[in-house]
Amino acid sequence: MSIPNRPIAAEEILAADRHLVHGFANLDALKADGARTAIVAAEGAYVRDAHGNRLLDGIGGLWCVNVGHGRAEIIDAIAAQLRELDYYSVFYNLTHPTAARLAEKLASLAPGPLNHAFFANSGSVANDSAVRILHHYFNRLGKPKKKKILSRIGAYHGSTHLAIAMTTPAYREGWDSAAELVHFLSSPSPYRRPDGMDEAAFLDVLIDELETAIETLGAENIACFIAEPIMGAGGVIVPPKGYHARVGEICRKNDIRYVADEVVTAFGRLGHMFASEAAFGVQPDIISVAKGLTSGYQPMSATIISDEIHEVVSGPGGLFLHGMTYSGHPACSAAALANIAILEREDICGQVRVRGPLFERALHALADLGIVGEVRGSHFMMGIEFVRDRATKALFDPGVNIGGRVARHAQARGLIVRPLAHMAVLSPPLILTEAQIAEIGATLRQSIRATMDDLARERLL
Ligand SMILES: Cc1ncc(COP(=O)(O)O)c(C=O)c1O
Repeated sequence: MSIPNRPIAAEEILAADRHLVHGFANLDALKADGARTAIVAAEGAYVRDAHGNRLLDGIGGLWCVNVGHGRAEIIDAIAAQLRELDYYSVFYNLTHPTAARLAEKLASLAPGPLNHAFFANSGSVANDSAVRILHHYFNRLGKPKKKKILSRIGAYHGSTHLAIAMTTPAYREGWDSAAELVHFLSSPSPYRRPDGMDEAAFLDVLIDELETAIETLGAENIACFIAEPIMGAGGVIVPPKGYHARVGEICRKNDIRYVADEVVTAFGRLGHMFASEAAFGVQPDIISVAKGLTSGYQPMSATIISDEIHEVVSGPGGLFLHGMTYSGHPACSAAALANIAILEREDICGQVRVRGPLFERALHALADLGIVGEVRGSHFMMGIEFVRDRATKALFDPGVNIGGRVARHAQARGLIVRPLAHMAVLSPPLILTEAQIAEIGATLRQSIRATMDDLARERLL
């Protein structure tokens, strides 16, 4: 990995950065010296900061750099596409070969009858699009009352006005949203289930809650249920075994469409191109993807809809009044096709099915440390929940910023992890070697120990 030719002055970058509004940041805290990290180069599983530090990218950029950084094949495909056709839209009767080929490719990979892709440029818009399409679909079916969305506490579906409404309320404190459209069900978190209840009984409780909600709201008023197969930004919550399949069945019985938000889980993170059907036994009506679709090399998302939904919205007089200028952008489509070619050629899903369990094991080994309440997740989507008291599962005071403390210690030791309130989250590139997996385990152990030492010194433990 080389630092770019031009000089990188950390101070100069950070001075310029005062004009940049950061997403999901405490903008006040960012004013402090040393609060921001500028990443200037990346290769494979590593990035380099403006001070020249080499850091193992434990979060794959933002759960997205699935095939690793610096893949010449994707970069060259983008450049070649731009040379041939820089931009044309897929509005009206227009199309171009790269977007068309990508739609065809996704139809061949997506489970069951999911054969039609609507492209946009973010996971948020992919989920907004799923809801807009379903509302219109039910209007066309003569069921205009079907508007409500069932979501879950802990869900993260994006930050546009509609996507944030489907996201757990904690992510929008002090901000507005289209909240009236959404009904929240409980988080399917086995770790936080009631004391003395086994997982099977907990699943029954969740299913009862869903059936009661449908009865109370009226199935005739509900358009869809939306869920990540494994909740990501809500704390890496793996639901009880059989949860998605049972929810899917109830949705089908009640004429409610099942939307799988696979923005994080698709394209290999759990060892499959799509996780819903392969890992969780549910056939969605719509799957949203973004992130791993291009491994982050270009901003792109797809809302992949079933034949049945497509048939309704494309029937007689079907006016599809939805679209973005950059839907199916040639450079994004080229990046996605090159990325999928790498995933297939290198059998990255197969690799993840082998190395993912090693990654899980390396992190589960941390469970002996006194502040580790639970290590959870699957394959390359993992989280460590920290608690003040393992017996009661009591959390640290938010002011302690336990996740931030562990992340700071990890970064000082050459590893980027994502602090998430009382958690540290990991979603590395899917190309990690066994040595890198061991390095992450060892660095985390040192970082959590160092955090425990700090807490003891400050009498917080
Ligand atoms: C599960 C899930 N859905 C949707 C989104 C929103 O995607 P974007 O940030 O590209 O809008 C995210 C982003 O992290 C996500 O994790």
